[in-house]
Amino acid sequence: MAHLLSTSCSIKFSSGCKRYSKPLNQGLEAFPTSFTLQAFKYPLRSLVSQGQKPLRNYTVRATTLPISKEAPPQPSSDTHQTSNEPSKPQRVMVIGGDGYCGWATALHLSNRGYEVAIVDSLIRRYFDHQLGTDSLTPISSIQNRLRCWKSLTGKSIELYVGDICDFEFLSETFQSFEPDAVVHFGEQRSAPYSMIDRSRAVFTQNNNVIGTLNVLFAIKEFREQCHLVKLGTMGEYGTPNIDIEEGYITITHNGRTDTLPYPKQASSFYHLSKVHDSNNIAFTCKAWGIRATDLNQGVVYGVRTDETEMHEELCNRFDYDGVFGTALNRFCVQAAVGHPLTVYGKGGQTRGYLDIRDTVQCVELAIANPAQPGEFLVYNQFTEQFSVNELATLVTKAGEKLGLNVQTITVPNPRVEEEEHYYNAKHTKLVELGLEPHLLSDSLQDSLLNFTIKYKDRVDTKQIMPSVSWRKIGVKPKTITA
Ligand SMILES: NC(=O)c1ccc[n+]([C@@H]2O[C@H](COP(=O)([O-])OP(=O)(O)OC[C@H]3O[C@@H](n4cnc5c(N)ncnc54)[C@H](O)[C@@H]3O)[C@@H](O)[C@H]2O)c1
Repeated sequence: MAHLLSTSCSIKFSSGCKRYSKPLNQGLEAFPTSFTLQAFKYPLRSLVSQGQKPLRNYTVRATTLPISKEAPPQPSSDTHQTSNEPSKPQRVMVIGGDGYCGWATALHLSNRGYEVAIVDSLIRRYFDHQLGTDSLTPISSIQNRLRCWKSLTGKSIELYVGDICDFEFLSETFQSFEPDAVVHFGEQRSAPYSMIDRSRAVFTQNNNVIGTLNVLFAIKEFREQCHLVKLGTMGEYGTPNIDIEEGYITITHNGRTDTLPYPKQASSFYHLSKVHDSNNIAFTCKAWGIRATDLNQGVVYGVRTDETEMHEELCNRFDYDGVFGTALNRFCVQAAVGHPLTVYGKGGQTRGYLDIRDTVQCVELAIANPAQPGEFLVYNQFTEQFSVNELATLVTKAGEKLGLNVQTITVPNPRVEEEEHYYNAKHTKLVELGLEPHLLSDSLQDSLLNFTIKYKDRVDTKQIMPSVSWRKIGVKPKTITA
């Protein structure tokens, strides 16, 4: 419906970006330091009911063309352009483009000459208000981020603020932007958040599964040649006692052989939502001829990319709290503030990891090598694997080089997971496409520890310890305490 876009406006750009005059988390002091979470049926609705306007109709469009001198990437031969049409840069919609991976990716693609639009409900910022947490790094509003990007580079990124679970909003966005590729980061991505209580488990599965289903229907209805690049997670596979393949495994059973989707053993309601997504995507590739790539991503670390370090206002978020922070981020923050590193249980939990600079490379490679109609490509997107104990050792050594005294303690594991197990996951396909990995040993000091030391005055140490238990989850709203 056209009325959904009637509030769109041209954005005016100032000639320069203002540096921060005060920390962006000022005002959060108003939040209590110990709290009780309320159960909301839909977290976004509760924001609206607190007197704030719903965000979904707010669309910002910038009209100036990119000034890149590089030849912009063209849509792949079998997308929407015919050979008679003049060549146009490929149009990429980044859903979840205000989040950690999405923001770095949107800037990277824009810098590389793609026409980029960000679609985001901004709910990740609301989760912070809900939980009383904040990014370690100060992050600017999405509108200021985009103004700053435009003023630094001359490149425009369109912004559509809305919820992809709202199909009317998503349809309008598709018809307005006409993407050649959609990169879908727009999900609730924390396993602990999904395990707080019933309402958040339901919210996570509703938000993630319905959102992805809507994207699939939008592609079918409005852009059937559009390539979907969907962020999955290595957590979908669990920790089987055999090698993990990239998406598929060839099995011989009772004398017959077939290549089948690799078994999934997800270990939280969040990870299960990603498994459901993968199944829905695989089915629509077969049934409707959708072209899709599922990127089973490992744990992402690091703050810096070439683009985000151009200006402080482009700085990416860094989560270290017990709900959204990952083990490596938490360890770096703990080392910086002199808190012992908290290893959950035996510390043998092993996972795949990658630098945020490799996330943006992988997504670009996936876009440049699209699946064919009906094809469902699956890549394991990580570069190295580490156990939690190995991470603690690396952070301890890197911290000592910077003069920090780093201790480690064991805390009871709030999760239900194997603490000592076999883990060997394949990850060669993206390297074959051209991925040049950054390694943790090289980035630890520069992109992690130095950032945590720089912003250590912003650390709220009460947020560091685990507060969500896989076993204690229930229907009651008072499930976590600070
Ligand atoms: N960060 C990691 O280490 C990691 C690891 C593996 C997989 N992934 C996957 O990558 C994706 C991005 O992760 P991230 O760390 O950037 O998360 P994030 O929470 O920082 O960003 C997600 C963004 O999506 C938006 N969003 C959520 N639901 C939406 C909806 N219904 N409509 C519109 N926007 C919505 C949020 O507001 C947020 O800006 C997720 O799908 C996640 O599962 C992340």
